Order: sequence, then C-alpha cells, then structure tokens
Amino acid sequence: MHRIVFLGPPGAGKGTQAAQLARDLGVPHLSTGDLLRAAVAARTPLGLEAEGHMKAGRLVPDDLVLKILHERLEQPDARSGYLLDGFPRNLAQAEALGTFAEVDRVVALDVTPDRLVRRLSDRRVCPKCQSVYNLSTKPPTTPEKCDHDGTPLVQRPDDRPEAVTMRLKVYAEQTAPLLEYYRKRKLLRPVDASGTPDEVVARVRRVLA
Ligand code: AP5
Ligand code: MG
Repeated sequence: MHRIVFLGPPGAGKGTQAAQLARDLGVPHLSTGDLLRAAVAARTPLGLEAEGHMKAGRLVPDDLVLKILHERLEQPDARSGYLLDGFPRNLAQAEALGTFAEVDRVVALDVTPDRLVRRLSDRRVCPKCQSVYNLSTKPPTTPEKCDHDGTPLVQRPDDRPEAVTMRLKVYAEQTAPLLEYYRKRKLLRPVDASGTPDEVVARVRRVLA
C-alpha cells in the first residue's frame, strides 16, 4: 500500500509531483491546500474562516485543516492508499495524523529559495479546472488561457510577493522541523527537486522503489 506524504517548501513542486505519482500509483492525491481553496470558492463556513489566513500566507488553524482532511480520508478511494500534499505542516498535525492514518514514507522535496520564489511568481492557475501552469517552465499553448477549457488564467492570491515571504517564513519555522521528526522515524526520503518535473519525478520514483 502507498501512504505517502509530500513535504517541501511553497513552490517545491509538491502538487506537480504528487499529481503525476497519483496517476502512476492509482491512489488519490490529497492536497489540503486544494481542499481549502475549494471550500473558499464554495463559500462554506470553513472556507470563509480559512480565507484570510491563506491570503496572508499563514497556516489555517489546525482544527479546521484536520476536519477537512479527516473527512476526505474517510472516502472509499483513500482506503487503498493516498498521497498527502501539504499535510502535515507542523508537529501538532503530524501527531494528530498518527492517530487516524498511517504514513509509510515521506518524500521531502528540496529546492533553493531563489528558485522557489521564481516558480511561485511565474505560476498561473485555471480558476475553473485548477490546472497549474508556469509562465517560464510550463506555459499554456495560448497565452494566459487554460489549455483544457480556455478560461483566462489567474495568479493565486497567496503568490503575491508579501504572502510568499510569509509562507517561506512559516515553512522554515513550523514545517521544516518535520524533516527531523520523520528522519528519526526512518520515514524520510529526501529528493533534489531542482531540474525539470520529469527529472524530479524520476528521482521520486527511485526513492520510493
Ligand atoms: P498549499 O496549497 O499547500 O501551498 P504550498 O505548500 O505553499 O505549496 P504550493 O502549492 O505553493 O507549491 P507546490 O509545492 O505544490 O508547487 P507546484 O507543484 O504548484 O497551501 C496553501 C495555503 O493553504 C497555506 O499557506 C495555508 O494557508 C493553507 N494550508 C494548506 N495546508 C495546510 C495545513 N496542513 N495546515 C494549515 N494550513 C494549510 O509548483 C509551483 C510552480 O512551479 C508551478 O507553476 C509549477 O508548474 C512549477 N514547477 C513545479 N515543478 C517544477 C520543476 N521541477 N521545474 C520547474 N518548474 C516547476
Ligand atoms: Mg501545491
């Protein structure tokens, strides 16, 4: 069974890598960021509470994130494995996860800070189907339009420079300690995530083999 966590700073390529691996392995890709953005778009009470935190680049309170992830993990498609992207993000979440789900391996994507900032400032997303593009590394075929449905692409509100600075700070202070947490438990698989997405996915496959 594949019960894998993707850990890494904002822009490291967690979503890009997890989406590819989920297709290969036939397990769902569960991104707490995507689940929260869907709740924001649907204007649910949870989404309304999360929105301000996300825009500012801060973590959403643990109880809200745990609720949304727990509910998702209870769906039938997650019974035979899952790829977690963006969860856990602090020690409290890692401890909580251990009470309701198993983790077999933790893929830690490593990228230099200057490259992260570039990837985030060049990212564009489709507000309709959530496809992710990059102006320099994965541009859409028609400028500024989604390849799948032609919708004008947008920038994520938290990809503005002030929010990016905050997200990198939050990662260093709250999420990076999880590297040591999982290293101690012998679950950590570090991966150099510079290079093209195909090069990185090959490295990820190698550490999971
Ligand atoms: P979340 O959505 O998880 O954002 P993040 O961790 O900041 O990570 P990103 O999605 O920005 O980056 P990524 O690593 O997925 O990179 P991607 O593949 O897109 O969280 C957003 C917010 O939600 C948080 O700030 C918080 O408020 C809240 N939240 C979420 N989870 C939470 C939790 N557990 N607890 C509390 N709050 C939570 O790639 C980035 C760009 O680079 C793309 O344009 C892509 O095309 C490009 N790219 C990818 N790989 C490569 C490559 N190898 N070479 C060149 N370009 C590449
Ligand atoms: Mg992501």
